[in-house]
Amino acid sequence: MLMGKTMTTKLTIPRPDDWHVHVRDGALLAGVLPHTARQFARAIIMPNLNPPMADSAGVLAYRQRIMAALAQTAPECAFTPLMTLYLTDATDPEMVARGHAAGDFIAAKLYPAHATTGSAHGVTDIARIWPVLERMAEIGMPLLIHGEVTDAHVDVFDREAVFIDRTLAPLIARLPDLRVVFEHITTAQAAAFVRSAGPNVAATITPQHLHLNRNAMFAGGIRPHAYCLPVAKREHHRQALRQLATSGFARVFLGTDSAPHDRHLKEAACGCAGIFNAPYALESYATVFDDEGALDRFEGFAARNGPAFYRLPVNPDTITLVREPVTVPATITCNGTAIVPFHAGETLAWRVLT
Ligand code: NCD
Ligand code: ZN
Repeated sequence: MLMGKTMTTKLTIPRPDDWHVHVRDGALLAGVLPHTARQFARAIIMPNLNPPMADSAGVLAYRQRIMAALAQTAPECAFTPLMTLYLTDATDPEMVARGHAAGDFIAAKLYPAHATTGSAHGVTDIARIWPVLERMAEIGMPLLIHGEVTDAHVDVFDREAVFIDRTLAPLIARLPDLRVVFEHITTAQAAAFVRSAGPNVAATITPQHLHLNRNAMFAGGIRPHAYCLPVAKREHHRQALRQLATSGFARVFLGTDSAPHDRHLKEAACGCAGIFNAPYALESYATVFDDEGALDRFEGFAARNGPAFYRLPVNPDTITLVREPVTVPATITCNGTAIVPFHAGETLAWRVLT
């Protein structure tokens, strides 16, 4: 501790939202949802189910299953799921406009086909959805982007940077009014791109990309629980992400990309991508801001920048974090499914006061 400075031991901020989360479906939904609902007031719910949430009827039915799971497992939580539509080559622009106007979904998600888990029905070529994107630009509906090319000739660690050059920059040049969230960014190139883009472009950053570089996947052996997509990059990229997140820049905000998978599906010859970080998400982020000497900027990143971009009110209630160690369990059983959480077995310096 620096002399003359008092150490912050308690932090009260408006209740944060999670601007990117996978809460799954069926039995797993009931198991993982309470972890998100206990910390966050609202969350952007990813639509990459099987089958994907590709029309209003699908999204509304999924929303009902989420509300039923909430009533059953965490009735004390006033949690609002913010639903999203999964774009495919066949998405109809008028269906998008109607569903958005009706409040069925607040944003649409672009998965390049085969970029990640649950993206098999994604968009094969962005040119196929120009009419949808033009309509979204007109009505001010946010486009959420998984920003990686899927070209097998492009090195997996370069796929995000190549996506910026090949797809994202031309898209924004063509449709400058389109409101875009460049999700779970992982590179210095993405951080620089968002900083230099106009007011319609924002980004989310996950806790794992603030904590881990790519060495984490190979520390003494192959580490499936450090594997997610986009994959963690070199250390200088992690530093650029930490810099952006803690800089006070307004168009970057919290999005966990919590993506739970049964531990046996990750500890496998072909393990799934995805890190389950929901249970200790705020603790994980707060530790980063503390390490960077930026606790005063945590509120903007966690609770204010997201609502500002989505044109929603900041949550009226608050949460409090205290500087007290919390040890993350080795596994968390979610309604019968054992999942290894992010930071399993580690001790974090902050915990949420309940
Ligand atoms: C996500 C999942 O498992 O649904 N996995 C991940 O590694 N992040 C999909 C995604 O967001 O890419
Ligand atoms: Zn995701």
